Amino acid sequence: MKKVLNPFKFNQMNTPKDFEDVMKAAGMPFPVDENVDILFEPIQIGDKTVPNRICLQPCEGFDGNPDGSPSELDFRRYKRYAGGGAGMLWYESIAISEDGRCNPLQMVIRPSTVAEIKRMVDEANAVAVENFGRRPYNILQLTHSGRRSNDKNWQSTPLAVCENPYMDDHNSIDGSSGKITIATDDKIEEIIRGFIDGAILAHQAGFDAVDVKVCHEYILRELLSAFTRPGKFGGSFENRTRALFMIIDGIRKNLGNAIDICVRLNAYDCVPYPYGWGMKKEEGVMEPDLTEPIKLCQMLVERDVRLIDLSTMMPRYQPYGRGLMAEHEDGPEAEINPYKGTFDLLKATKEIKEAVPGGIFVCTGLTWLEQFGGNVTAGGINQGWFDLGGFGRQGFAYPDFVRDLKEHKTMFRNKCCMLCDKCYDLIQIGHCQTGCVMRDQEIYLSLYREKVQHKDTK
Ligand SMILES: Cc1cc2nc3c(=O)[nH]c(=O)nc-3n(C[C@H](O)[C@H](O)[C@H](O)COP(=O)(O)O)c2cc1C
Ligand code: SF4
Repeated sequence: MKKVLNPFKFNQMNTPKDFEDVMKAAGMPFPVDENVDILFEPIQIGDKTVPNRICLQPCEGFDGNPDGSPSELDFRRYKRYAGGGAGMLWYESIAISEDGRCNPLQMVIRPSTVAEIKRMVDEANAVAVENFGRRPYNILQLTHSGRRSNDKNWQSTPLAVCENPYMDDHNSIDGSSGKITIATDDKIEEIIRGFIDGAILAHQAGFDAVDVKVCHEYILRELLSAFTRPGKFGGSFENRTRALFMIIDGIRKNLGNAIDICVRLNAYDCVPYPYGWGMKKEEGVMEPDLTEPIKLCQMLVERDVRLIDLSTMMPRYQPYGRGLMAEHEDGPEAEINPYKGTFDLLKATKEIKEAVPGGIFVCTGLTWLEQFGGNVTAGGINQGWFDLGGFGRQGFAYPDFVRDLKEHKTMFRNKCCMLCDKCYDLIQIGHCQTGCVMRDQEIYLSLYREKVQHKDTK
């Protein structure tokens, strides 16, 4: 099983300079700035203003209601986020259809759930206005889970776009896999319509932007790497990106510029060609090649899809070595150094941003950098690596870190995410709702004891 290394002693790093020096000595010259003022410079997206440079990235709580509407835990999460001060809230993945859910409690966007989703956004906005006199820029991530789909009993129902020997035997988040169905072109057209309808509903729910999710292991990302698929959605670059552009054009046709369109996109897949996107086109070679990702970002920006959050299958994977496979293997090759993975992804973000000057880029993976995440965001913006700092688990653990950065110019280590992976255990092992087991114990510690440790909590 995976072994995530933690080779650095963050408790012995007292200043951003300490962090910078240690990382530099280890061959990872992260951009670091002690002065975090730049985080509070607004950024303009079209006619809308993002009030600061911190983005809380989508982290699904696996905690909607069975009918796909948000539960009290969803309302709670987004109010905590909004009350913490982040300028951009990238709401978690919401499925465009019942069969596209990755778990039985994933929210689904449909006419019957849109009013409650709108209420969730309105209530979160109200908390931000009460605290800061303004609301965040809100994005809804739309998804179809593709090979990660599960039915209402947590049975894996993978819908793939082509066979993939690196992934076919572990599609569900818990590593299991049902029998793969290969989506027909008609099914892909149905999914395209689902994204367009989902965007229309996202507009009704009051979001500023809709994210056509092309990252991680989900279906639109898989289409980008469908080199071996015959027909109009596979093979050439044009065919592999066809579904994404059909969705973008369809949203614009229905909504004009009433809602912004953005993407969370894999910079590379950490799976070799011809089964991975953004990788060197030599069979079996685990090495990134950003030519196609850069071309795609340029085409997106030309269509006014300017906001791009760059990710990979998981930021802790390195694009070299065993990549994604390390998660499921044993032995020294399966060891994961998350800092190298995170640094590589930031470097790729820098390279893509330099090649695509019209884009507005959010980076991924900053929670790994603990109390120095704000300093790396400031350094990255100042040095032109990206435009906004993206944080995932830090939102679960420490939703008001932006307030601390504003008021105290620092993040406090004793409030930071502890990188323990227990929020993942809750979904991978416990198949239940998730959040921060360590810093939000009121809700999640008892769930962890019951569902993961199987302790009697009464
Ligand atoms: C419990 C959990 C749920 C997640 N859900 C989503 C999701 O809905 N959409 C998405 O794009 N990424 C999702 N992610 C990935 C995060 O957005 C983020 O990229 C990842 O945690 C790494 O960043 P971090 O080191 O800042 O946490 C999830 C991560 C976790 C831990
Ligand atoms: S459970 Fe662990 S990894 Fe997850 S947010 Fe909390 S401290 Fe971070």
